[in-house]
Amino acid sequence: MKTKITELFGIEHPIIQGGMHHVGFAELAAAVSNAGGLGTITGLTQGTPEKLANEIARCQDMTDKPFAVNLTFLPSLTPPDYPGLVKVIVDAGVPVVETAGRNPAAYLPALKDAGIKVIHKCTSVRHSLKAQSIGCDAVSVDGFECGGHPGEDDIPNFILLPRAADELEIPFVASGGMADARSLVAAMALGAEGMNMGTRFIATQDAPVHQNVKEAIVNATELDTRLIMRSLTNTERVLNNEAVERLIEKEKALGDKLRFEDIVDEVAGVYPKIMHEGTMEAGAWSCGMVAGLVNDIPTVDELISGIMSDAESIIKARLGNF
Ligand SMILES: Cc1cc2nc3c(=O)[nH]c(=O)nc-3n(C[C@H](O)[C@H](O)[C@H](O)COP(=O)(O)O)c2cc1C
Repeated sequence: MKTKITELFGIEHPIIQGGMHHVGFAELAAAVSNAGGLGTITGLTQGTPEKLANEIARCQDMTDKPFAVNLTFLPSLTPPDYPGLVKVIVDAGVPVVETAGRNPAAYLPALKDAGIKVIHKCTSVRHSLKAQSIGCDAVSVDGFECGGHPGEDDIPNFILLPRAADELEIPFVASGGMADARSLVAAMALGAEGMNMGTRFIATQDAPVHQNVKEAIVNATELDTRLIMRSLTNTERVLNNEAVERLIEKEKALGDKLRFEDIVDEVAGVYPKIMHEGTMEAGAWSCGMVAGLVNDIPTVDELISGIMSDAESIIKARLGNF
């Protein structure tokens, strides 16, 4: 299928794997790209330019298809070496960068001068328009359903995507709540040029995370995520567990007085324990409502080829007589 997104990134199918902390390693990125989508290595999980350069090289050994690197700009007392990370991305010839978090304007000249396409993840129409105005090539429009940080506007994709379509000139993909062929066809009908998935890609055989994480997603329903850190204006959608319930009790007790230090045990440094050791109660980890639609653990290739063939059936059989 050709869309503005497949043309922009030189990929076969309009399906992107979003950057995911301690999930988006070379194995998953290469599997998605080899299946015809766009896989993404998560830059900050590597942390240093040297480690990121090594991870990019590993991915290049596993695929000759285009893949992306995610750069998430977070408020931090000790910021990562962003210029160094950008330099290794440029030097390695990575064709696409997914930016997220804050406005990526400071790094756009270096990326654009190197011919790199930039897709910025946004949770609102106004941020998408800002991304367009500073020269991003595309945006990933992340609805309220999404795993991770949905922003503070709480607009679900049935409203957000057509609003984005009405306002944007650059192409966009639908992100948040996307799981299958129905998601892809609906996203295209609402004006997107493809879709971005996070949670769905974790529950695949190729995702280099502990089996417990994949099973937690398969066993979860759409009722099992929670929003945390709202009072810190850093809302995150996570899968409910004991640590999340403890955190929410603290939020209720402290209200607006809550500080990050009060919940540090539940959120700081927990990803390696969860994703690699499978200690599921170690803390809060991002997960989308879409877990309610995830019932199996296929290979990435089975997932993507299944989505593309089911999409064709939906369009021809279900919608063909429209
Ligand atoms: C476990 C997990 C970790 C994530 N980490 C990041 C991250 O480090 N940077 C980022 O930009 N987005 C991150 N995301 C968001 C995803 O890239 C994607 O936008 C989101 O998962 C889409 O929603 P979905 O989960 O409903 O598919 C993460 C999502 C999950 C589930």
